[in-house]
Amino acid sequence: MKRLKFVLTVFLSAILTVFAVTACNPGTNTSSDGGTRTLIMATSADYPPYEFVDSSSGSQEIIGFDVDIAKYITEKLGYGLRIDNIDFNGLIPALQSQRADFVMAGMTPTEERKQNVDFSDIYYEAKNTIVAKQGSNLLTTDSLNGKTVGVQLGSIQEGAAKKIAGANVKSLNRINEMIQELKAGRVDALIMEDTVAQGYTASNPDLEFNVIPNEGAAGSAIAFPKGSPLRDEFNPVLQEMKSSGKMDELVEKWFGENSPARSAS
Ligand code: ARG
Repeated sequence: MKRLKFVLTVFLSAILTVFAVTACNPGTNTSSDGGTRTLIMATSADYPPYEFVDSSSGSQEIIGFDVDIAKYITEKLGYGLRIDNIDFNGLIPALQSQRADFVMAGMTPTEERKQNVDFSDIYYEAKNTIVAKQGSNLLTTDSLNGKTVGVQLGSIQEGAAKKIAGANVKSLNRINEMIQELKAGRVDALIMEDTVAQGYTASNPDLEFNVIPNEGAAGSAIAFPKGSPLRDEFNPVLQEMKSSGKMDELVEKWFGENSPARSAS
Protein backbone atom coordinates (compact mmCIF):
# COMPACT_ATOMS: atom_id res chain seq x y z
CA MET A 1 0.00 0.00 0.00
CA LYS A 2 2.77 2.39 0.99
CA ARG A 3 4.61 1.44 -2.15
CA LEU A 4 1.60 2.04 -4.36
CA LYS A 5 1.15 5.46 -2.82
CA PHE A 6 4.78 6.28 -3.55
CA VAL A 7 4.51 5.18 -7.19
CA LEU A 8 1.33 7.20 -7.63
CA THR A 9 2.93 10.33 -6.16
CA VAL A 10 5.94 10.07 -8.43
CA PHE A 11 3.71 9.46 -11.43
CA LEU A 12 1.43 12.38 -10.64
CA SER A 13 4.20 14.85 -10.01
CA ALA A 14 5.86 13.82 -13.28
CA ILE A 15 2.65 14.61 -15.13
CA LEU A 16 2.32 17.90 -13.27
CA THR A 17 5.90 18.88 -14.11
CA VAL A 18 5.39 18.25 -17.83
CA PHE A 19 2.16 20.21 -17.67
CA ALA A 20 3.77 23.12 -15.81
CA VAL A 21 6.70 23.34 -18.24
CA THR A 22 4.38 23.41 -21.24
CA ALA A 23 2.10 25.92 -19.57
CA CYS A 24 4.96 28.32 -18.84
CA ASN A 25 6.19 28.19 -22.41
CA PRO A 26 3.10 28.36 -24.56
CA GLY A 27 4.97 29.75 -27.53
CA THR A 28 8.04 27.55 -27.56
CA ASN A 29 8.68 26.07 -30.96
CA THR A 30 10.83 23.03 -30.47
CA SER A 31 13.19 21.43 -32.92
CA SER A 32 13.41 17.66 -33.44
CA ASP A 33 15.93 17.33 -30.61
CA GLY A 34 13.54 19.07 -28.23
CA GLY A 35 15.42 22.40 -28.10
CA THR A 36 14.20 25.76 -29.33
CA ARG A 37 14.09 25.91 -33.13
CA THR A 38 16.31 28.68 -34.49
CA LEU A 39 15.09 30.46 -37.59
CA ILE A 40 17.60 31.83 -40.08
CA MET A 41 16.86 35.32 -41.34
CA ALA A 42 18.80 36.40 -44.42
CA THR A 43 19.35 40.10 -45.08
CA SER A 44 21.62 42.54 -46.89
CA ALA A 45 22.94 44.63 -44.02
CA ASP A 46 23.80 47.71 -46.08
CA TYR A 47 20.51 49.47 -45.55
CA PRO A 48 20.33 51.74 -42.51
CA PRO A 49 17.97 52.18 -40.73
CA TYR A 50 16.45 48.84 -41.85
CA GLU A 51 19.58 46.74 -41.31
CA PHE A 52 23.21 47.65 -40.93
CA VAL A 53 26.34 46.61 -39.12
CA ASP A 54 26.70 48.39 -35.80
CA SER A 55 30.15 49.90 -36.07
CA SER A 56 29.68 52.17 -33.04
CA SER A 57 29.96 49.35 -30.52
CA GLY A 58 32.72 47.37 -32.21
CA SER A 59 30.48 44.32 -31.92
CA GLN A 60 29.82 44.16 -35.68
CA GLU A 61 26.30 43.14 -34.74
CA ILE A 62 23.55 43.58 -37.34
CA ILE A 63 20.93 45.99 -36.01
CA GLY A 64 18.02 48.05 -37.35
CA PHE A 65 14.28 48.35 -37.81
CA ASP A 66 13.91 44.98 -39.57
CA VAL A 67 16.08 43.27 -36.96
CA ASP A 68 13.95 44.60 -34.08
CA ILE A 69 10.77 43.40 -35.83
CA ALA A 70 12.32 39.98 -36.48
CA LYS A 71 13.43 39.70 -32.85
CA TYR A 72 9.99 40.66 -31.58
CA ILE A 73 8.15 38.18 -33.82
CA THR A 74 10.46 35.21 -33.28
CA GLU A 75 10.51 35.81 -29.53
CA LYS A 76 6.68 35.98 -29.43
CA LEU A 77 6.47 32.71 -31.35
CA GLY A 78 9.16 31.00 -29.28
CA TYR A 79 11.84 30.66 -31.95
CA GLY A 80 15.53 31.44 -31.74
CA LEU A 81 16.95 33.83 -34.36
CA ARG A 82 20.15 33.83 -36.42
CA ILE A 83 20.92 36.51 -39.02
CA ASP A 84 22.93 35.89 -42.19
CA ASN A 85 24.32 38.87 -44.11
CA ILE A 86 24.43 38.32 -47.89
CA ASP A 87 24.15 40.46 -51.04
CA PHE A 88 20.62 41.64 -51.82
CA ASN A 89 20.66 39.77 -55.10
CA GLY A 90 21.22 36.47 -53.27
CA LEU A 91 18.28 36.77 -50.86
CA ILE A 92 15.53 35.20 -52.96
CA PRO A 93 17.81 32.33 -54.10
CA ALA A 94 18.60 31.71 -50.40
CA LEU A 95 14.87 31.21 -49.72
CA GLN A 96 14.40 29.05 -52.79
CA SER A 97 17.22 26.72 -51.75
CA GLN A 98 15.97 26.65 -48.11
CA ARG A 99 19.19 28.23 -46.83
CA ALA A 100 17.04 30.78 -44.98
CA ASP A 101 13.65 30.60 -43.28
CA PHE A 102 12.76 34.19 -44.05
CA VAL A 103 14.14 37.44 -45.49
CA MET A 104 13.78 40.91 -44.06
CA ALA A 105 15.64 43.48 -46.13
CA GLY A 106 13.26 46.36 -46.77
CA MET A 107 12.06 44.11 -49.57
CA THR A 108 9.15 45.17 -51.76
CA PRO A 109 6.58 42.48 -52.59
CA THR A 110 6.53 42.77 -56.39
CA GLU A 111 4.48 40.53 -58.69
CA GLU A 112 7.67 39.18 -60.20
CA ARG A 113 9.07 38.14 -56.80
CA LYS A 114 5.73 36.61 -55.82
CA GLN A 115 6.32 33.97 -58.49
CA ASN A 116 9.20 32.67 -56.42
CA VAL A 117 8.52 33.52 -52.76
CA ASP A 118 5.59 34.28 -50.45
CA PHE A 119 5.25 37.66 -48.70
CA SER A 120 3.79 38.76 -45.36
CA ASP A 121 1.58 41.82 -45.05
CA ILE A 122 3.33 45.13 -45.75
CA TYR A 123 4.87 46.69 -42.64
CA TYR A 124 6.38 49.95 -43.94
CA GLU A 125 6.32 52.20 -47.02
CA ALA A 126 9.00 54.15 -48.86
CA LYS A 127 9.51 56.29 -51.96
CA ASN A 128 12.26 56.33 -54.56
CA THR A 129 14.68 59.24 -54.73
CA ILE A 130 17.52 60.41 -56.92
CA VAL A 131 20.78 60.82 -54.99
CA ALA A 132 23.44 63.01 -56.64
CA LYS A 133 26.23 65.48 -55.85
CA GLN A 134 24.96 68.73 -54.30
CA GLY A 135 23.68 71.12 -56.95
CA SER A 136 23.50 68.54 -59.77
CA ASN A 137 19.89 69.52 -60.37
CA LEU A 138 18.88 65.96 -61.22
CA LEU A 139 15.29 66.15 -59.98
CA THR A 140 13.26 63.96 -62.32
CA THR A 141 13.79 60.69 -64.18
CA ASP A 142 13.81 62.70 -67.45
CA SER A 143 16.90 64.54 -66.22
CA LEU A 144 18.74 61.18 -66.08
CA ASN A 145 18.66 60.85 -69.88
CA GLY A 146 22.30 60.49 -70.98
CA LYS A 147 23.50 59.95 -67.38
CA THR A 148 25.06 56.96 -65.66
CA VAL A 149 22.77 55.77 -62.87
CA GLY A 150 23.90 53.47 -60.05
CA VAL A 151 21.43 51.03 -58.49
CA GLN A 152 21.52 47.93 -56.33
CA LEU A 153 21.65 44.67 -58.26
CA GLY A 154 18.32 42.86 -58.07
CA SER A 155 16.42 45.78 -56.53
CA ILE A 156 13.22 47.41 -57.78
CA GLN A 157 15.34 50.54 -58.27
CA GLU A 158 17.35 48.61 -60.86
CA GLY A 159 14.09 47.81 -62.65
CA ALA A 160 13.00 51.44 -62.48
CA ALA A 161 16.34 52.72 -63.81
CA LYS A 162 16.26 50.35 -66.76
CA LYS A 163 12.99 51.97 -67.85
CA ILE A 164 14.48 55.47 -67.99
CA ALA A 165 15.07 56.46 -71.59
CA GLY A 166 18.72 57.19 -72.35
CA ALA A 167 20.02 56.23 -68.89
CA ASN A 168 23.13 54.06 -68.65
CA VAL A 169 22.47 51.73 -65.71
CA LYS A 170 25.29 50.48 -63.49
CA SER A 171 24.23 47.74 -61.05
CA LEU A 172 26.25 47.17 -57.88
CA ASN A 173 26.01 44.65 -55.05
CA ARG A 174 26.11 46.93 -52.04
CA ILE A 175 24.74 50.39 -51.25
CA ASN A 176 28.13 51.56 -49.84
CA GLU A 177 29.75 50.74 -53.20
CA MET A 178 27.11 52.85 -54.93
CA ILE A 179 27.89 55.80 -52.63
CA GLN A 180 31.63 55.42 -53.35
CA GLU A 181 31.00 55.34 -57.13
CA LEU A 182 28.93 58.51 -56.88
CA LYS A 183 31.49 60.37 -54.76
CA ALA A 184 34.26 59.34 -57.16
CA GLY A 185 32.22 60.65 -60.12
CA ARG A 186 32.02 57.25 -61.83
CA VAL A 187 28.22 57.48 -61.78
CA ASP A 188 26.13 60.67 -62.01
CA ALA A 189 23.26 59.61 -59.79
CA LEU A 190 21.80 56.78 -57.73
CA ILE A 191 18.22 55.64 -57.29
CA MET A 192 17.54 54.79 -53.67
CA GLU A 193 14.66 54.76 -51.17
CA ASP A 194 13.98 58.00 -49.24
CA THR A 195 14.60 56.73 -45.72
CA VAL A 196 17.94 55.20 -46.70
CA ALA A 197 18.97 58.19 -48.84
CA GLN A 198 18.30 60.43 -45.87
CA GLY A 199 20.91 58.66 -43.74
CA TYR A 200 23.58 58.45 -46.42
CA THR A 201 23.22 62.10 -47.46
CA ALA A 202 23.32 63.21 -43.81
CA SER A 203 26.69 61.54 -43.36
CA ASN A 204 27.92 62.63 -46.82
CA PRO A 205 27.18 66.37 -47.00
CA ASP A 206 28.51 66.56 -50.59
CA LEU A 207 25.44 64.56 -51.63
CA GLU A 208 21.74 65.43 -51.84
CA PHE A 209 18.56 63.50 -52.56
CA ASN A 210 15.28 64.42 -54.25
CA VAL A 211 12.11 62.34 -54.15
CA ILE A 212 11.08 61.27 -57.65
CA PRO A 213 7.80 63.09 -58.40
CA ASN A 214 4.56 61.28 -59.36
CA GLU A 215 5.75 57.90 -58.23
CA GLY A 216 3.70 55.86 -55.75
CA ALA A 217 5.17 54.53 -52.52
CA ALA A 218 6.39 50.95 -52.37
CA GLY A 219 6.11 48.84 -49.24
CA SER A 220 8.38 46.44 -47.38
CA ALA A 221 7.28 42.93 -46.47
CA ILE A 222 8.82 39.76 -45.04
CA ALA A 223 9.60 37.07 -47.63
CA PHE A 224 9.34 33.29 -47.08
CA PRO A 225 10.01 30.21 -49.17
CA LYS A 226 6.92 29.38 -51.25
CA GLY A 227 4.36 27.53 -49.13
CA SER A 228 6.17 28.14 -45.83
CA PRO A 229 3.80 27.81 -42.85
CA LEU A 230 5.74 30.63 -41.16
CA ARG A 231 3.88 33.31 -43.09
CA ASP A 232 0.62 32.55 -41.29
CA GLU A 233 2.46 32.52 -37.95
CA PHE A 234 4.20 35.87 -38.60
CA ASN A 235 1.23 37.85 -40.00
CA PRO A 236 -0.88 37.90 -36.81
CA VAL A 237 2.12 39.12 -34.82
CA LEU A 238 2.73 41.89 -37.38
CA GLN A 239 -0.92 42.91 -37.01
CA GLU A 240 -0.63 42.84 -33.23
CA MET A 241 2.47 45.07 -33.45
CA LYS A 242 0.50 47.55 -35.56
CA SER A 243 -2.53 47.66 -33.25
CA SER A 244 -0.59 47.69 -29.97
CA GLY A 245 1.61 50.66 -30.95
CA LYS A 246 4.81 48.54 -30.94
CA MET A 247 5.33 49.22 -34.66
CA ASP A 248 4.98 52.98 -34.16
CA GLU A 249 7.48 52.78 -31.34
CA LEU A 250 10.02 51.05 -33.62
CA VAL A 251 9.33 53.50 -36.47
CA GLU A 252 10.07 56.36 -34.08
CA LYS A 253 13.20 54.62 -32.76
CA TRP A 254 14.72 53.97 -36.22
CA PHE A 255 13.24 56.69 -38.48
CA GLY A 256 12.86 59.43 -35.87
CA GLU A 257 15.23 62.24 -35.02
CA ASN A 258 17.35 60.31 -32.54
CA SER A 259 17.73 57.21 -34.65
CA PRO A 260 20.97 55.27 -34.01
CA ALA A 261 21.21 54.99 -37.81
CA ARG A 262 21.86 58.74 -38.17
CA SER A 263 25.54 58.35 -37.52
CA ALA A 264 25.85 54.89 -39.04
CA SER A 265 25.92 55.39 -42.76
N1 ARG B 1 12.88 48.02 -51.56
C1 ARG B 1 13.83 47.73 -52.60
C2 ARG B 1 13.57 46.37 -53.18
O1 ARG B 1 12.85 45.60 -52.62
C3 ARG B 1 15.26 47.83 -52.13
C4 ARG B 1 15.60 47.01 -50.94
C5 ARG B 1 17.12 46.96 -50.69
N2 ARG B 1 17.40 46.34 -49.43
C6 ARG B 1 18.62 46.17 -48.88
N3 ARG B 1 18.72 45.62 -47.71
N4 ARG B 1 19.71 46.57 -49.53
O2 ARG B 1 14.07 46.04 -54.23
